[in-house]
Amino acid sequence: MRPIRIALTKGRLEKDTIKLFEKLGFDCEQLHNKGRKLILSIPNENIEIVLAKAADVITYVEYGVCDLGVVGKDTILECGGSFFEILDLGFGKCRFALAGKKGADFYSGYNEKIIATKYPNVTRAFFDKKGMDIKVVKIEGSVELAPLLELSDAIVDIVETGSTLKENGLEVYEDVVNVSARLIVNNVSLKMYQDKIENLVKQIESVLN
Ligand code: PRP
Repeated sequence: MRPIRIALTKGRLEKDTIKLFEKLGFDCEQLHNKGRKLILSIPNENIEIVLAKAADVITYVEYGVCDLGVVGKDTILECGGSFFEILDLGFGKCRFALAGKKGADFYSGYNEKIIATKYPNVTRAFFDKKGMDIKVVKIEGSVELAPLLELSDAIVDIVETGSTLKENGLEVYEDVVNVSARLIVNNVSLKMYQDKIENLVKQIESVLN
């Protein structure tokens, strides 16, 4: 039987995911000493780990080349896709927030507001719900720059500790939604490897509690 393949989001979620694997008794030696290698194995479990960017984790799981994925709810909300979201892993907790220059009266006036974000879909959904017309400008990183440079009236972005906002003279105007890391599974894999996946989920649930 081929190994179960788990796509893991590189960066912020990586450390906590490895901690979780270690709690499950997985041998994470390769993950700790990965160098530039992108596909690693958990030798004692017949599991392969694929390291990928968040949005690609979803793509690999959707196409079934990875059976499972660990990815933030922020990316799931932004990218959507067809897979099962089976577990809230409880780490990687942060929130989407609407933020901008400290003291600015964002809600006043009737002019169409410009919102900079890495998450245009989340942003549009948020303002649609409010019935507020906005223009979205897509930014790839350090979105906080946009209101500082007066490209936008505000941003919709991830806030974790709040220090990036604070250190740049920005503040939260409104919380949008809380997010955290999720375990997702390919629709076909869930049927094909039902026992193995259910087992793994039970093991994870037991260490999360
Ligand atoms: C995220 C987010 C904020 C920052 C928030 O960026 O876009 O900039 O983290 O974290 P804080 O509330 O703890 O300060 P990230 O570090 O992922 O980098 P990027 O902006 O280059 O994508």
